[in-house]
Amino acid sequence: MERRIINTEESSEDRSFEPAIRPQLLSDYIGQRKLKEMLSVYIRAAKNRAQSLDHCLFYGPPGLGKTTIANIIAHELGVNIKVTSGPAIEKPGEMAALLNNLSEGDVLFVDEIHRLNRQVEEVLYPAMEDFAIDIMLGKDASSRSIRLELPHFTLIGATTRAGLLSAPLRDRFGIIAKLEFYETAELEEIVLRSARVLKVEIEPEGARRIALRSRGTPRLANRLLRRTRDFADIRYEGRITAEAADYALDILDVDRLGLDQNDRSYLLTIMEKFSGGPVGLETLAASLGEDSGTIEDVYEPYLLMNGLIMRTPRGRVATERAYRHLGLPHQSSLEL
Ligand code: ADE
Repeated sequence: MERRIINTEESSEDRSFEPAIRPQLLSDYIGQRKLKEMLSVYIRAAKNRAQSLDHCLFYGPPGLGKTTIANIIAHELGVNIKVTSGPAIEKPGEMAALLNNLSEGDVLFVDEIHRLNRQVEEVLYPAMEDFAIDIMLGKDASSRSIRLELPHFTLIGATTRAGLLSAPLRDRFGIIAKLEFYETAELEEIVLRSARVLKVEIEPEGARRIALRSRGTPRLANRLLRRTRDFADIRYEGRITAEAADYALDILDVDRLGLDQNDRSYLLTIMEKFSGGPVGLETLAASLGEDSGTIEDVYEPYLLMNGLIMRTPRGRVATERAYRHLGLPHQSSLEL
């Protein structure tokens, strides 16, 4: 069956003239071991029963593979995938048309599903539950609705913010999974695999250096691999050695923990403008000129996981580890 993709989340990095480095099979997917095991059972069970797979919701920080997994699921099921996103669908009729155009068993992938508006979301309830949509005819007292049957399909929703999903929508997903940050060894494997696909010469230590600075995130690892390849091509005879990787990553301003300029200004703002915290999220957001949602979803998860910040009832606090990492004196050591 031909697979169709309306658009994909990743644009600038997935150059059409380069081989696709995203894995297409679960067996090629590295990391998220539990999720992979779970999905392989659900996919096989659905196929054995010749049924559509239950609706899936994937959540977690950006770049961890939500879109990749949705594509793999469609591929493994042998069905088409249609890709859209919460903000792209403005009217209930647009969602109804998308649903109506699906074939039996197809996957509909809705990225940033927390951004669907209420009326559009309401079209999804009967669609997910009963594979039907209700269409209203007329607007006055004589109005009535007719029910349109849909093919059995699988909705895959992705969000960086599970907490913002309405309860009725969340409750209609049979499979809900959180994507976790990747271990360095897993990222190393991903970099080596991507390098093979891109036909880039790389030494294991070069891959490790890239992995160490990838913020636990495959998308970043692959982006750093591409950029490092450019430096390696020009200065290191096309080979990504440890030295070539370190050279490129220093120029790219990614530090030893994988923090970039944004992460560092987040930490420095807490330290220098708010005496290390606690500082409320909104105050911090205003000071950084960033949207508070982006701060919560994009910057903070990795900083929290690495023990560089704490979330307290009174706001965000920079930890001693963060001071050490940035080479600044911490309050408690000043008091000694
Ligand atoms: N490319 C991006 N994410 C990947 C993953 N989890 N496994 C293999 N290749 C990838």
